[in-house]
Amino acid sequence: MIRKPVLLITGAGGEIGHGLIQRIAAEGTYGILALDLRPIEPELTAMCEDMIVGNILDTNLLEQIASKYEVAGIFHLAAMLSTRGEFIPEVAHEVNVQGTLNLLKFAVGESRNAGANVKFLFPSSIAVYGLPSVATKDAAGKVGEDQFLTPTTMYGVNKLACEHLGRYYNFHYRQLAADRDHFHVDFRSLRFPGLISAFTVPSGGTSDYAPEMLHAAAKGESYDCFARPDTRIPFMAMPDAIDALMNLFKAPAESLSTNVYNVGSFAPSADEVRAMTLEAFPNAQLGYETDLKRQGILDTWPADVDDTLARRDWGWAPAYDAERSFSEYLIPNIAKRYQ
Ligand code: SER
Repeated sequence: MIRKPVLLITGAGGEIGHGLIQRIAAEGTYGILALDLRPIEPELTAMCEDMIVGNILDTNLLEQIASKYEVAGIFHLAAMLSTRGEFIPEVAHEVNVQGTLNLLKFAVGESRNAGANVKFLFPSSIAVYGLPSVATKDAAGKVGEDQFLTPTTMYGVNKLACEHLGRYYNFHYRQLAADRDHFHVDFRSLRFPGLISAFTVPSGGTSDYAPEMLHAAAKGESYDCFARPDTRIPFMAMPDAIDALMNLFKAPAESLSTNVYNVGSFAPSADEVRAMTLEAFPNAQLGYETDLKRQGILDTWPADVDDTLARRDWGWAPAYDAERSFSEYLIPNIAKRYQ
């Protein structure tokens, strides 16, 4: 079997995977190896060298992939989101942490085989933050990478643990071993805000109220938002999220001062999301039915993030503010989708 250099994307069928596959295929520099629990859409599969249906917890499968392909980089997107994880925390931990550990180990092998540092891109989340009260959240404003790292969800705990694992594999892996590898995993992580795509709807997240509201309005379905109107967390349009991943992937290692970067874009309240949605779909039936438990999670997430480091180190600058996200990307594409 010919070994070709490919980028491995786990969770390829998820929201980020959709956009990322299209972007990498359009750029054409790398082949794509997609991995997901279920087959992905035929149009996306057609953009990939191979689509493997399987589980990141299956280490035999990862060994088979290693023997067949030369993996030049990994985008490890597979994860169980924050709301779903609270119902089955131990399973979430297995998928989110053990799964990541399996991929990091896989990346060690690929670095050794390639004789180069293999890049490992990891989407972390604002869920790593855990602000103790709404008053603290209001006072804190934009939160920096080192503040309030006391997450209250299994998902947030898992993301924070994986950031640390990534840093360990990058700098300290088997630090006492005499036969320590010369090459290492080049771990790079982004703490994403809630993501909003025009083409997919998320499942099992706690920031889902914004995309759910928009997609429901476009479909002509009524929707009750589970967050309080004044709830404020950062959001980002999917094209910016894909840009952020690709720009961090391409950034020269010397320019990076940390393994983990905040990336911000816009930070509307739930009621501002509702108002922007109603502007585009004036007949939409959008109400509120606050779920106090999910609200409790949102109240621990920051109102916005300080992304100075990403801007300074690798030139992060979102192309889509709230206005442009809605008017140029979300509304026209969502409206077309449900026409
Ligand atoms: N969007 C994710 C969630 O709501 C947070 O990263 O779980």
